Amino acid sequence: MAETDDTWSSNANEALTVSLVTPVAGQLKTVSSFHPKFTYPIFGEEEQIFGYQNLKINLRYNASDMRPHLSTTYGKKFKAIGDTEPADIEEMLRPFLPAVAFQKSKEFEQTVTSLPENWTPPGDKVQEFNTSQKGHTFEVWRGSLGDRAVKQLVSRIQILVSLFIEGGTPLDVDEPDADRWTVFFLYTKYTDPATKRQVYMFGGYCTVYRFYLYQPPSPPASPAEKAQKDDLDLGDGNFDLSQLPCRSRISQFIIIPSFQGKGVGSHFYQAIFSQYLKHPQTVELTVEDPNEAFDDMRDLCDLSYLRTVPDFLKLRINTSIKLPRDGAVPKTIIDPEAYEKLRRKVKIAPRQFARALEMQLMSQLP
Ligand code: ACO
Repeated sequence: MAETDDTWSSNANEALTVSLVTPVAGQLKTVSSFHPKFTYPIFGEEEQIFGYQNLKINLRYNASDMRPHLSTTYGKKFKAIGDTEPADIEEMLRPFLPAVAFQKSKEFEQTVTSLPENWTPPGDKVQEFNTSQKGHTFEVWRGSLGDRAVKQLVSRIQILVSLFIEGGTPLDVDEPDADRWTVFFLYTKYTDPATKRQVYMFGGYCTVYRFYLYQPPSPPASPAEKAQKDDLDLGDGNFDLSQLPCRSRISQFIIIPSFQGKGVGSHFYQAIFSQYLKHPQTVELTVEDPNEAFDDMRDLCDLSYLRTVPDFLKLRINTSIKLPRDGAVPKTIIDPEAYEKLRRKVKIAPRQFARALEMQLMSQLP
């Protein structure tokens, strides 16, 4: 019987497995394994790979430093006929992974098993939290993309953006303004039952870009303002940008599938939000092109935070407001000054703040 094209096509989302492994007594143990949600940025709109039977693409990561290793196995490979050739899987994945992913399996295994036991994620630990995940403590680490170790880790995990965020664009880790990117890594730390060793396991990450707010050049209004401007001046006509007021924008936010739907993303978002609440230069925390799942999570998190703020709970519909005689809709039925003062204090962008307040007011309706 003649073999059809179908016989040689594989669904790319099923063929690709991403797994996290950790060394236990010299062997690599799989601690998490999942399929991607999307593969169209890599294998094309149809998410099909031509030219193999029983195709398995394994993207293994060392669970701590996320060193990747790619391997492919298949039953049969299609013999090229004219222009009809089997897909070159490695070449298709090459733009999405660092060179280290294509090393020999032995090199990967040796490097992973010899990683020092006191390894910690790059950057600084800024927060810890627990969820209903028994025995798991989560840690949030923060670093700048300008830091080599942060950049290396981001270059290893950037493929997750293409695999899990529809329309997501991987970051260019070599871009000149790398310092404007802050990266938050989420790790869980647990004791391996076999070795009693503390193990770091990657759980997700988030990138945040700093936009400097346009400051028109103006003479200082007061001696205090002049002193502040002089503090920023580095003496060579350049300014210390990191001290300028900015809008911080969440760009990519991912939780690995094994931790999704368990409140981990919410805790991670709240940890990041709290960092920016106390970051003096950040005027507002915004989100780039959020999807529905992220919006839902953010709405719940923002609302539960705002419900801890007494001034938010005081915002009420002003029932004593006089409606204009001409029947026009009154401009606002909430005290606009108190509203804006609070919005700025909590650093939530106008549309999101209005959404949260609407949810709050709706929840109070009899
Ligand atoms: N136990 C069980 N469920 C819980 C718990 C808990 N303790 N706490 C919250 N939940 C529920 C929430 O109510 C919510 O329910 P819903 O699914 O009915 O809305 C759901 O779990 C999700 O909340 P979390 O668990 O906190 O969120 P999660 O950890 O799954 O993270 C996220 C959400 C980031 C969207 C994650 O699913 C993900 O990474 N998805 C793939 C990538 C992605 O879409 N990223 C966002 C793109 S937009 C951007 O990057 C700006």
